[in-house]
Amino acid sequence: MAVLEHLTSQQAIDLENKYGAHNYHPLPVVLSKGEGVYVWDVEGKKYYDFLSAYSAVNQGHCHPKIVGAMVEQAKTLTLTSRAFYNDMLGKYEKYATETFGFDKLLPMNTGAEAVETALKVCRRWAYQKKGIPENQAKVIVCENNFHGRTTTIISFSNDEVARENYGPYTEGFVTIEYDNLTALENALKSNPHVAGFLVEPIQGEAGVYVPSGGYLKGAKALCEKYNVLFIADEVQTGIARTGKMLAVDHEDVKPDILILGKALSGGVYPVSGVLANDDIMEVITPGSHGSTFGGNPVAAAVSTAALEVIKEEHLAQNAQELGELFREELNKFIPTSDLVVKVRGKGLLNAIVINDTEDSSTAWDICVALKENGLLAKPTHGNIIRFAPPLVMNHEQLMDCVSIIIKTLNEFKKG
Ligand SMILES: Cc1ncc(COP(=O)(O)O)c(C=O)c1O
Repeated sequence: MAVLEHLTSQQAIDLENKYGAHNYHPLPVVLSKGEGVYVWDVEGKKYYDFLSAYSAVNQGHCHPKIVGAMVEQAKTLTLTSRAFYNDMLGKYEKYATETFGFDKLLPMNTGAEAVETALKVCRRWAYQKKGIPENQAKVIVCENNFHGRTTTIISFSNDEVARENYGPYTEGFVTIEYDNLTALENALKSNPHVAGFLVEPIQGEAGVYVPSGGYLKGAKALCEKYNVLFIADEVQTGIARTGKMLAVDHEDVKPDILILGKALSGGVYPVSGVLANDDIMEVITPGSHGSTFGGNPVAAAVSTAALEVIKEEHLAQNAQELGELFREELNKFIPTSDLVVKVRGKGLLNAIVINDTEDSSTAWDICVALKENGLLAKPTHGNIIRFAPPLVMNHEQLMDCVSIIIKTLNEFKKG
């Protein structure tokens, strides 16, 4: 068999099962093409993408402007490493920092790397600026967080599947309940060596948990009171997904450190970054942190185009409007069904909670049925299905998706 021979879905699945590590449990669909809000499988069946690669493809699949920027730059200069300057990075850093209102950007590639970078910046700041004694710095994190997969990050996860048998774990983290300002203040009060508070403005992987109104503002105020850095992980919630450029914008909160990834490139290329003002970012000095690919010319071109698309196509506003419509339509349906308990979310980051035990396969089975009906979504933790389509969706397409979801739920019989 030639390496790139055309495959059936089953052949592609068999190859992955045989030759790939089994670190994912994908829905049984093999995709070979994407455009805007649609993807196609190898047999040519068309689907609405209601996951957007975990909110990376906010600008829609294969956005011509972003792909065009990548192709042009790829033909000119791809990678120099940071051993030399390149003519793209500075322009991109200027544009990104102006877009988000910070003095400096530290470019990386994946979300987890950006979280690691933010933690390193925070610890350095703690020792060099706050005066915390060596190796004593603590970062407060929340229960049910998801910040990525590195050894340090899983050290402060309470997801046993993600943690088990990966010890010894990194020290220096204090876990508190999410959406609980009293717990945050108690943790800040009882430990003089807290350097930062790392938080997702909405807990995406945990099941799209939206905190109470005022939580982020209150948390930021507490961080200021105790001279602790407020670190917002907007890898999933950022870049227009929740109806504003950043989810913290809903409460007019400015993080001390902002972490971005995923849609920073429109899903075209791995681009992530950490933003902060000079008084914080200046703790990073030559040799103290780096990445061969971080800030490469292709990433700079792609990310610039990806951010331009968000603004030019008013995707935050579209996410806001379509998100309200989506929840309104599902809220009309919920009282008519005993299968769905609730819909929640912000903008186009939403989830439905299925009326079944956490360990049942109902959410998975519904996703399989949705696939049969032409819409791709994936269960997240517990019996929850996340719905996060590309933000380039229009009103008519959204209503079409709502009909597919309602029809599927109405027809669904528990196995
Ligand atoms: C909030 C958050 N932080 C970090 C990450 C990790 O990003 P990556 O998978 O690119 O390492 C994710 C991924 O889902 C995420 O949702």
